[in-house]
Formats: sequence, structure tokens, C-alpha cells
Amino acid sequence: MPLHVIIGAQWGDEGKGRILDAIAGEAAIVARFSGGDNAGHTVTADGKIFRLHLIPSGIVHPGPLCILGSGMVINPQRLLAEMDQLRAQGVDCSPERIKISHAAHILTPLHIALDQAEEGAREKKIGTTGRGIGPAFSEKTARCGLRAETLTQPEECADKIKAHILRGNRTLEKLYSQPPLDADAIAATFFQFAQTFGPHIADTSALVADALRSGKTVLAEGAQGTLLDLDQGTYPFVTSSPTGIAGAFSGLGVGARELGRVIGVVKAFQTRVGEGPFPTEQTGEIGNRLRGTGSMPWDEFGTTTGRPRRCGWLDLMLLRYSARQNGMTEFVLTKLDILSGLNPVRICAAYERGGKTYPELPLGMSGLETFRPVYTDLPGWDEDIRNARTKEDLPAAARRYVERIEKETGVPVSLVSVGSEREEIIHWKK
Ligand code: GDP
Ligand code: IMO
Ligand code: MG
Repeated sequence: MPLHVIIGAQWGDEGKGRILDAIAGEAAIVARFSGGDNAGHTVTADGKIFRLHLIPSGIVHPGPLCILGSGMVINPQRLLAEMDQLRAQGVDCSPERIKISHAAHILTPLHIALDQAEEGAREKKIGTTGRGIGPAFSEKTARCGLRAETLTQPEECADKIKAHILRGNRTLEKLYSQPPLDADAIAATFFQFAQTFGPHIADTSALVADALRSGKTVLAEGAQGTLLDLDQGTYPFVTSSPTGIAGAFSGLGVGARELGRVIGVVKAFQTRVGEGPFPTEQTGEIGNRLRGTGSMPWDEFGTTTGRPRRCGWLDLMLLRYSARQNGMTEFVLTKLDILSGLNPVRICAAYERGGKTYPELPLGMSGLETFRPVYTDLPGWDEDIRNARTKEDLPAAARRYVERIEKETGVPVSLVSVGSEREEIIHWKK
């Protein structure tokens, strides 16, 4: 059995965690391949809510080995807190269940301080999560980062951390007029982290290769979404890592020959946290309706930062782009239930600029803010659809909404999620 890759097709928060959980039961390995704790993936199982930031969503199932791949940046403080939370929810987080790639990078308090200082100094804000992601990937690319393998040597790790903080303090103080960090105290904490996480460090690329060789299924869990990809997203309003298919290969150390399904997770409408262009954004009543008030766990408020998400109509121009960028073999649609009661339901299938209509984006995501969406109104439906378990259980208008997405993008839909609980899902092709 091959490697299946699960990727966000929009600006993140599409429901990747929920979908991973729906298909992870049969997998031998679930592996995160990019980003860090800027991600917030939610799994709801038997009424319990699990919020994952670094650990793959497969952890909620008892079976799969969970891997934090080489493409990740890992804040050990956050990882420890996440493990404590999961343990309190009855989840095994032992080194037998969770492996960390020796080649992943470590994220420190210095990266967080720099992220916040850089964002504060920016004239045009990105709206980062403030988790230190940009600075950690910058160091990695500049070849002066700290790799997770150092956690196997606590004393050496503490020395390296101290030197790293002292070096960074110069930037904090001189460039941003910020107070320096306490290098000795941070080094001492990392000495402890090394003792905790040392046993989790492994050559995870070899573990993935072994599993694939013996015919097992490996699921690669993407973080963020295609439109936040460092190269292909709405630069500079992106994250600092490859969020798409290419990231799965480099971030796990696996070859393209192993590839099976490329699953694009699509929310039934569009959301975005942070700054950047968003052609179909609805700032009024519709936006508020799509967001919800925050009273429901699935309402559109950030899993990581709690920020209200910007909301708008589904943008098929962007979905076509995502499908092409990743070679998506299928879409999985989430949160269709949220559209119940909206009439009409709008989709954007083309853009207009200067009197000209564009069915394709001329320069990728560049200049996205200069386009105006051209909407098609589709009939809505009033019924609560959370109890639907087959296509036939859905009102005709909801069925037609899904079929329209398939038709306009040329990508088949395999699953439709109508609620956050495990069983609230429809196998579309059955
Ligand atoms: P991720 O980052 O892509 O994993 O997505 P998040 O977990 O940040 O946000 C998705 C939210 O929607 C979570 O609260 C999920 O529990 C919830 N969710 C996922 N699928 C559905 C669905 O079909 N219906 C509803 N109502 N909520 C869903
Ligand atoms: P999941 O995996 C939604 C956004 C931030 C900001 C931009 C850069 O839960 O889908 P960063 O801290 O990465 O430098 O911020 O990227 N962002 C996300 N938005 N979901 C995410 O993750 C995100 N991770 C980062 O809001 O606009
Ligand atoms: Mg999220």
C-alpha cells in the first residue's frame, strides 16, 4: 500500500485533522511533514475534542505510529504541553508511539521573540501566529539552525542553545530594542527537554520506507493550506514552509514513486486567518453567519490563536489552482452542514478585472487582490443535514452544490463531512 497525502486546499483550517481521523484507522504511520505549532488540527471522537498542534492527528487512534517529520520546526515546550494534554485525555504519548525526525528543527523562545518583534516592526503585517515559525525556518535555510538530533545529547544541546540565544540577543537588542533573553535559564530548560525527547528521536525516513516496503499504508498530514505555501501561495502573506505535495516528499524523506492518493481537503466555504488577499470575503451578515458566534466548537475562531477567521463564499478559481499545484486525485468536502439555511448559496467560478473575465489566473497568486469575483447563485437548502449518511439523504440542492464543485474543478469528491463527529460523514461515490 502506498503513501497517501492529505493537503489543505485553501488557507488552512479546512478540517484536515477531522479527515485524517476519518481515514487513519487503517494506517501504519501518520506523519506530519511541515510547519510547526502554528497549525491547530481538531479531532472530535465520541464527544471528546482533541486539539493537535505538533502531533499528527492519527494519535487519537490506538494503532498508527505518529511521526514528526524532518520538514517540521518543533517547539519542545509546546510539544510537552500537548503530550500532557493528550495523556490527560487517555492517549499514549510514549516514544514507542511518537517519533521525531533527527533532521527536524528545534524552535526556541528566541524564534518566538524574533517573530513578534519582526511582526511588530512590519509596516504591512502578515498576521503571523506569533509562534516563531518564520525565524525558525529562516535559521534552517541559513544553515545555522538546531536540529532535533541534538536532543540526544543533553549537555551538547544546552551549550548549543546558550550560544544560539546569546547570538540572537544581539539582534533582539540592537535591531528591535527588545530586552535580551536569559540564555542560561533557557539552556537549562533545554537540558531537561533533551532528557524527555531524546528517546523519541529516530531516522523517521527509514521508518516510513520500511512500512511502505512491507505493504503498509502511510498517511502524510499536511499543515496550513496550499494558498499559504511559501512558493505557490499569496506571498508574502504565507507561512514559511512548503505546505503542498512537494513538502510531503522533502519533509518526510520519501520518494514520489510511493505516492498513492493526493487528498485535497476543502471547506464548503472560504476562510482565512491573518492578512492577505481574499476575493470572496464577506465582511457583513453573510461573513458573520458563516463564522458563527463562537458558541459552537466548530465556529470559525482560530484553534491556535483564537482569532476570528475571515469568511466568504467558496472560490472555485482558487480550488482549481490548488488541484493543479498538488495534482490532487480527489477532494474531501467539510462543513457542508454550515451552509444549511443560506439561500442562495454563492460560488465564484471566474474573476473579472478591467471588463475582462478570467477563467484562469494569469500569474498564479500574484495580484490576486486586483480581481473581482464573478458569482453564480445556486439554490440553497433549509434542512439540517448532520444526520445524512448517504448522498440520497441530502436535499437535492446540497447534492447539486457538491456536484457543481466536481464539475467546475474536474476533481472528484470522495467524502463529504456534515459534522465534526466521526460518524457524520458521507462516502460520496458509494
Ligand atoms: P484543520 O486545521 O484543517 O485541521 O482544521 P481546524 O481543526 O483548525 O478547523 C476545522 C474545524 O471544523 C474544527 O473545529 C472541526 O472539528 C470542525 N469540522 C470539521 N469538519 C466539520 C464538518 O463537516 N462540520 C462541522 N460543523 N464542523 C466540522
Ligand atoms: P492549520 O494547519 C490557518 C497563517 C497565519 C498567517 C500566516 C503566517 O491549522 O490549517 P505563521 O505563524 O505561519 O508565520 O503565519 O499563516 N497560518 C494559518 N492559518 N491555519 C493554519 O494552520 C495556519 N498556520 C499559519 O494566520 O496568516
Ligand atoms: Mg487549523
